[in-house]
Order: sequence, then C-alpha cells, then structure tokens
Amino acid sequence: MSGLAMFGGPRAVPAELASEEHVGWPVVTDAERAAVVDVLDSGRFTSNQQAGEVQALEREWAEYVGAPHCAAVVNGTAAIELALAAAGIEAGAEVLMPALSFIAGAVAAVHRLAVPVFVDVDPVTFTMDPEATRAAVTPRTQAILAVHLHGLPCEMDALRALAAERGLVLIEDAAQAHGATYRGRRTGALGDVATFSLNVVKNLPTCGEGGLVTTGDADLHRRLLRYRQFGEDLQGRRRRDYLSHVLAGNAKISAVQAAFTRCQLARLEEYRRARERNVESLLGRLRELPGFVPPSCPPDRTHAWHIIRFRLDPAALDHPDLAPGALRAVAERALRAEGVPVMRYQTLPLPEQPAFRSRDGFAGGYPWRLPGACSAPYRPEDYPRTLAVIEDSLTLQRWHLNPAAGSVLRRCADAFEKVWEHRDELAAAARAMDDRQAIS
Ligand SMILES: Cc1ncc(COP(=O)(O)O)c(C=O)c1O
Repeated sequence: MSGLAMFGGPRAVPAELASEEHVGWPVVTDAERAAVVDVLDSGRFTSNQQAGEVQALEREWAEYVGAPHCAAVVNGTAAIELALAAAGIEAGAEVLMPALSFIAGAVAAVHRLAVPVFVDVDPVTFTMDPEATRAAVTPRTQAILAVHLHGLPCEMDALRALAAERGLVLIEDAAQAHGATYRGRRTGALGDVATFSLNVVKNLPTCGEGGLVTTGDADLHRRLLRYRQFGEDLQGRRRRDYLSHVLAGNAKISAVQAAFTRCQLARLEEYRRARERNVESLLGRLRELPGFVPPSCPPDRTHAWHIIRFRLDPAALDHPDLAPGALRAVAERALRAEGVPVMRYQTLPLPEQPAFRSRDGFAGGYPWRLPGACSAPYRPEDYPRTLAVIEDSLTLQRWHLNPAAGSVLRRCADAFEKVWEHRDELAAAARAMDDRQAIS
C-alpha cells in the first residue's frame, strides 16, 4: 500500500491526466466557434430580433423540457427575480426556500421585497424537506422556491400538493438540474414556473452568463417578457412604442450567448448519458467504502449530477469519537493531495450568511422593515440537518461534467480507496486537529 500523498507518497491522480481534454468545461467545439462567428457576421445581436438565435433557443428549450413557453434572460438570478415578479409575489410576502442552497434565490426574493423563509433539507437528497416546508407556511407565504440542488429534483408531488392546498406559486430553481427528471417529466415542467442558469459552469452552459425561464402559463410568460424589457411590450410590434407598463429594468440575453448554448443543447443528451455512466461507476466504487457516503437518487427521479456531494461518517469508519468537521477537513486535505479537487459547497446555512444575519437588506432594512412583514431573526438551530450536512460533507464539482472524464474519475476512485485504506492515519490526523482546535 503506497503512502498518502499528503505525507509525501505518490499521487493517485497524476497531474498530467487532468487535462483540458478530459476534465475541461465547457467543451467547446467547432460548432460553437462557427455559431458565434455567424452571429457576428449576421449583425443580429439582440434578443429583440423576431427570429434570431434567442428565439430559436427559447423554442428549443421549451420543447426539450416539455413546457409551452420559454424566455431567455441575462442570468439565473435574474430568472428567479423575474419569475417572482411575473408571478405577482408581493412586497412583504414570504417565499419558502431551502437553507442549503446557493444564495441567488434568497437575494432574488429580497430584490422583490419578499422575505426569504428558510426550511431544513432532507439529509439524503439535500433538497427541501416537504414536511419542514409545510410547517413553515404562514398566512404571508405566497411562493415555494424548490431548488433542485446539485441536479436532483425535489419531492415535487408533495410540494405541488402543498402549493395547491395553500394557494402558493411553485417555482422550480433548476439552475443545477438541466435534463433531470421527476416521475418521467423533465425539470422546467414540474411547477408553475421554472428558472435555469446558463452560467459557464452549468450543465447547459453559455460562454459567460445567461438564464432561461419556462412556464405553462401564457399570461405569466407575457408578464415575464415585459419584466425582461423595461416593462415594454415588444411582441408582434413592428415599431417600439417606448411605453413601460410596469417598472422593470433590462434582463435580456445576447444572441452570441444563445447561439453558443444552442450548440451545447444539441449535445446535452449525449453528454448527460456519458456523465451518468461515468458518475455511476465512480459512485459504485465509493459505495464499497464504509464511511464515505455517496449521494443516491430516488428511483422515481434522474439526477443531472451537477455537483457530487458525499458525506463522511466517522462511526462507519470505525472512529465514532471523531468530530465530523475535523474528519471532513482532513479528508479534504488528503484527497486534494492525491489530486482529487474536492471542496466544500456552501459553508453556512443561507440564514447564517452575514448578509442575512445583519438584516441590512435594501434601503435600510427592507423587506424586513415593511409593515406586517416577518422580522423574527433567523435561528441556526432551526436547520440541524443543513448544519450537519455542511459540517460533514465534501463535493466534487466540474471535473465530472466532461463526457471524457471517465479515465480521470477511475483514478479519483483509486484515490478514495487509497485514502480509505489509510483511514486510521486520517483519524489520527483529524484527532490531532480537533485537539489543537480545543486547545486554541
Ligand atoms: C441553485 C442556483 N440558483 C441560482 C443560481 C444563479 O444563477 P446565475 O449564476 O446564472 O445567476 C445558481 C448559480 O450558481 C444556483 O446554483
């Protein structure tokens, strides 16, 4: 058994193997190059062309997800903000969302002067727990933002039933879940309205920033187009009338962005299938290592595998006395030294973010200062499962997105096995770290 790389042994994943060809993302081919040059040559740069790249992307994405309408926008955060606006979420209303997520949804709610209300997540799926969501509903609640975190769809039937019962708008945040399915239907067609990010690191990327909003509601879609374009109605008009029907800014995407994404969309299914095979063989090997708890996917769903999060269980590693956080920190160091770029994804529950603890909000404390709005402080102890997941888990990001990552992921599995074989050394290092922290 060779020694751990963090103590001077050989790396399990040779640096030269982790080449752009194997693990680079996004994969840029001649198709993208030609499509972008075509836009430049055409001079049709804006979203407002009646039959340009943006409209083609909207049509193709709507067809792919199985939703009647799609609007392309400037990024995934704006997509959520516009969805909230178009759905008519009012100032001071509460929007339920998971405590474990990227901050974009919470910020989008605050931009609309709505109050984010965080709920705890399921410790296995890492998505919002339907029972915790139900318990958080108040007379002020107007929407649920169901984040398909890491690429796994939420328990949508339960959330849809709750939304119907309490008259709430159900918004999917599918920024990380392009192409994932729930009971045979794709994300983007599982709620009242859905949002996607096209950021360059996402499973369906553009060459920069972009977003998509899908819905089955024609009126909501019309309002969304207004919010994207200074509150104006441009659809079907030959001349712009410069009338702003609602107060709104500019959230349009460019044709270059759309052209790039259309090329990626043409290969999305091929890449998704390759990724599924590669990730499944990695996870199959991790499942053999007690103590490394790989993510799972309930049988009624498919996972987009945007992020792979695995938990560490000190008891299953035969070291039940170890602090999970210390074990996680040492495992991170050991795996990174072996050449596996594991990292944490989110280091705090959203309500613990300094920006939410301070309650500065906008214009001196809004939305929490609005009359009748909930101003009770967020309490970390309300999110025990989110806290535990953040403490004891690591993620693999980006590398596995490339369809040619199979050989590198096999070496990553070798690295996990090697680190696992050295688990007693790992435990000793974690214990020493824990003792040092206790002394300081
Ligand atoms: C879950 C989630 N929602 C929303 C966003 C925001 O997307 P964008 O970066 O395109 O604004 C992200 C981006 O990382 C995300 O992960």
